[in-house]
Amino acid sequence: MKDNAEKSRRKTCQVVGLPGDGIGPEVYTSACRVLSVIEETFGVSIELDEQLIGGAAIDASGDPLPPATIAACRKADAALLGAVGGPKWDGNPADQRPELGLLRIRAEFNLFCNLRPIVTHPALHDFSPLKKDRLEGVDLMIVRELTSGSYFGKKWRNDDEAEDVCRYTRAEIERVTRAAGQIAQQRDHRITLVDKANVLETSRLWRAVATAVIENEFPDVKMEHMYVDAAAMHLLTRPADFDVMLTENLFGDILSDEASMLCGSLGLLPSASLNDERFGLYEPVHGSAPDIAGQGKANPYAMLLSVAMMLRHSLAWHVEARALERCIHVCWNEGILTRDLRSDGYSTVEVTDRVCEKLAASATS
Ligand SMILES: NC(=O)c1ccc[n+]([C@@H]2O[C@H](COP(=O)([O-])OP(=O)(O)OC[C@H]3O[C@@H](n4cnc5c(N)ncnc54)[C@H](O)[C@@H]3O)[C@@H](O)[C@H]2O)c1
Repeated sequence: MKDNAEKSRRKTCQVVGLPGDGIGPEVYTSACRVLSVIEETFGVSIELDEQLIGGAAIDASGDPLPPATIAACRKADAALLGAVGGPKWDGNPADQRPELGLLRIRAEFNLFCNLRPIVTHPALHDFSPLKKDRLEGVDLMIVRELTSGSYFGKKWRNDDEAEDVCRYTRAEIERVTRAAGQIAQQRDHRITLVDKANVLETSRLWRAVATAVIENEFPDVKMEHMYVDAAAMHLLTRPADFDVMLTENLFGDILSDEASMLCGSLGLLPSASLNDERFGLYEPVHGSAPDIAGQGKANPYAMLLSVAMMLRHSLAWHVEARALERCIHVCWNEGILTRDLRSDGYSTVEVTDRVCEKLAASATS
């Protein structure tokens, strides 16, 4: 993956907007408002090209990832996605499911490196099911391999048997380990490789290949090994001890949802999926939340933190990313939270208003 420093700052960038389904368009609208304020406040410009994905795309064209969406992404620096899916499409055949749009965009753009930062904030400790003393100082980055393993391997099923093949190549492990190594160098220089090397051959290959990459190419990074069952336990008993957690597709999916509970709500967690050229798909970790869609209750912070990741990783707009994160943290300190966190909470629009006000004021402060 290209080093962040290699990507120079440009004043104008192209972003594809993918609102999607359910609360996707609501949190996407928040993101657009915040991006407008960033343009005005910092003198930068974003050319936003809105396209279809998921259920909305199926309704419009019968295809969860239409060719126009792929073509727009090819020309862009990044894509910003709300969420896809919902009960309306649950009975659809396998090739007409909204989630397929997401799997296909990951494969189409080789988005092999999924980043999920898990950072607790003192103003939100009360909302986590874990004890406060375990939450202090939690700042970990889960690096999940996203385009291989059992999600993409050969699959078949009959009435009595089924198989999902988990296959990894040396090259696939090397590239995501390099990405994790670069990230660790910008953090505390520690990687925990999570696997099941006592049982699985793919894990043994991961361990051999990843260890060699770190030893040979990142001598300033220390790698430790942990079985996935132990990692699941330690994420709850001593989460603050982790720096970068590197793992394969399925383990990463499960561990990152578990780790999301440290922060207090699914509505607070951003993610980035990157390829070698630093094109990225940025999206909240949560889904389309059909139970609250259209009611103004969606928590927009996961989406706004995903915007901050996009500014940093794909646009190299570091000042703007830091300013947005700072404004979000100020809002948390002031208790500006949606109803998933407090019963008398603010609406999606009200939270967005407050973040925008603080951002606009940040230029003069
Ligand atoms: N990346 C994606 O687009 C993505 C990810 C996961 C699930 N999905 C899809 O979303 C649909 C619903 O799935 P689900 O219910 O399992 O997961 P979900 O994340 O949509 O919702 C789980 C629970 O969290 C709440 N929640 C989620 N995001 C929230 C937010 N921003 N603010 C406040 N509350 C929020 C919901 O109201 C719900 O109670 C399904 O069709 C699923 O396939 C999409």
